Amino acid sequence: MSEGTREHWSSSLGFTLAAVGSAVGLGNMWRFSYMTAENGGAAFVILYVLLTAIVGLPVMLVELSIGRGAGESPVKALTYYGGRAWAPLGLLFVVSGFVILGYYGVLAGWTTRYAFEAIVTGFPADAAAHFGALQSGHQAAAWQLGFMALTVLVVSGGVRGGIERASLVLMPLLGLLVIGLALYAATLDGAAAGYRYYFSTEFKAILDPAVMRDAAGQAFFSLSLGMGAMLTYASYLSRSHDLPREAILISASDFAVAFVAGLVVFPLVFALGLQQDVSASTLGALFVTLPKAFATMGFAGRVIGFLFMLALVVGALTSAISLLEVVVSTAIDQFGMERARASWLCGGAISALGLLSAYDIGILGLMDTIGGNLLLVFGGLCLSVFAGWVLGPRILEEAEQGTRMPWMLGGWLFMLRYVVPPLLFVILLYSIQAAWVALAEWAGG
Ligand code: TRP
Repeated sequence: MSEGTREHWSSSLGFTLAAVGSAVGLGNMWRFSYMTAENGGAAFVILYVLLTAIVGLPVMLVELSIGRGAGESPVKALTYYGGRAWAPLGLLFVVSGFVILGYYGVLAGWTTRYAFEAIVTGFPADAAAHFGALQSGHQAAAWQLGFMALTVLVVSGGVRGGIERASLVLMPLLGLLVIGLALYAATLDGAAAGYRYYFSTEFKAILDPAVMRDAAGQAFFSLSLGMGAMLTYASYLSRSHDLPREAILISASDFAVAFVAGLVVFPLVFALGLQQDVSASTLGALFVTLPKAFATMGFAGRVIGFLFMLALVVGALTSAISLLEVVVSTAIDQFGMERARASWLCGGAISALGLLSAYDIGILGLMDTIGGNLLLVFGGLCLSVFAGWVLGPRILEEAEQGTRMPWMLGGWLFMLRYVVPPLLFVILLYSIQAAWVALAEWAGG
């Protein structure tokens, strides 16, 4: 282990905010609302909470323990604990990073553009036509590359000087923005109808495997699990940190932001009578419906719209940073590359892959189904089997270091052995099927 030379977080708060920053992102605001609308409201939310607790928390603790225990980026960390046989899983994490950050940069690019437009021109009345024009093509690519450059700049600043410093400023800002927006949304006329839609549900949906699959994928995506992002951040931690406590803190904050974001989105949508747009939910719905809502609200819409998009950009940036850090730290540890150079090279390569999704929204959807769901569920399954069955008590020992709540670890190993893997295996089958259908549709259309 390279305790001596490896960078570390300068404070406990710095790590927590960076990890929460990784978790909170477009997943909480865009993906969560879109998935909730698509999967029948509160049933989805309930499943998502359950899966976060039953599957997300245990896997989060695995990533934090392996990362801190090894003090290395994913490939080396998995090799340190499991030998060469587990190195390919680390490589898969890097691949997932490429796929996810590839299209994530495009989504973030749209968002950044909206934030600028709110200031400069306002939201155009014909939001659908506007989004149609900006979603794919040179402009989408230009905004994607601009956003990616910002991400690279932060990551090249290093763990303390870049990631931690950015998180310390951006995360409190994000919290204030989201809470302020929710309070504002509560004053809107249609707010009650929005809440009703958000909290009402067909409880049958809870038993629907497709809803379960989406809820599990969303839990992983939103918590940044299944591809070594939390593992990498934890590799910059020292032994004195309380990992179970951090895992709970990160998961709870992530859920809180997603939940409050729903309190912003649904009242806005219903206040302006745009519910039709949402139930016809597609990937782009939020990028059409909300700007449409803002456009009808006059000057207030510009202000609120700007603040909303700003919150999204801030969330997206701190998440993109963590995705890039997985790839960059691997390049540094494996090839001894210098950080700034690794950041620009990896960021450039990922952006190049992402260009495919900037020019074709079908590919973007496909990359989300495969990267944002399938690969993460698979990664989570492998991590839980690895920790539960290969490491067993060894992982427990690591997680125990520094914790003041050892009781939390009581059922953990049991979960990792008997609950998480079977559950994720079943979900994986559904994810494979969904990816297959999406692939066939894309090839056919
Ligand atoms: N969790 C982030 C979001 O909700 C996205 C993200 C960041 C992510 N790092 C990740 C997703 C690692 C999966 C894996 O927007």
